[in-house]
Amino acid sequence: MQQHFRMERSVFALLGFVLVSLCKGQTAQTFCQEKPCPEFTLLESNKDFETRLYSDTLWITTKIASRTLHGLIAANSRLNHFCETQKQAGYTTPDTWPVLITVTKDEDEENDFMSFFVPNNTAMAEISVPCVKLQTRPGGTVYVRIFHTIPNLTSGRTNREKLREDLTRAGKHFDANTYSAAAYTTYWALSHYSEIWMSAV
Ligand SMILES: *[C@@H]1O[C@H](CO)[C@@H](O)[C@H](O)[C@H]1NC(C)=O
Ligand SMILES: *[C@@H]1O[C@H](CO)[C@@H](O)[C@H](O)[C@H]1NC(C)=O
Repeated sequence: MQQHFRMERSVFALLGFVLVSLCKGQTAQTFCQEKPCPEFTLLESNKDFETRLYSDTLWITTKIASRTLHGLIAANSRLNHFCETQKQAGYTTPDTWPVLITVTKDEDEENDFMSFFVPNNTAMAEISVPCVKLQTRPGGTVYVRIFHTIPNLTSGRTNREKLREDLTRAGKHFDANTYSAAAYTTYWALSHYSEIWMSAV
């Protein structure tokens, strides 16, 4: 148990290093600046969270096979490989934010996925890359907590818990079985901008 926790901690501490990818620029600025990211309508905003309405969005997604550094690097490499394969076929996958880590809970099992946002109408070659799939994230209402560190296991959990408490206090109903951490900055950025997303139900 203790060992498991330590392992997760060290893995997520290193997550920042994994966030720089071939699809990404090295010098991302603040929230979405100069890069495509999913559009939304702001429905409500208070000091604790935002309520946003997203439409359907497209992502390239791969499963993170294990919560180890190797698992994260492998997932990131697969997504980069997808971008590289597209490039070789003459298609440029645009630089985008965020990098999304989605944790879903099914029965007692948690699965983690890493995704890069793909803007609508991005021309792509029909080449498959093992274990990478194009995925539509259905639109809907999302509750968002903003924080200013790179998400690691500790900060991700703390902020998810805080969002959960704030939503409960505000009487909002949300899907407790899945959440995402969205990173919009590289590890080396001078200031960080990250979000926790939980879907309304
Ligand atoms: C996680 O991020 C927080 C905030 O940046 C930092 O204080 C903490 O040391 C990090 N935890 C690990 C395990 O790196
Ligand atoms: C992108 O495409 C989806 C599915 O066709 C659509 O629901 C969504 O509104 C589009 N988003 C934008 C920003 O045009």
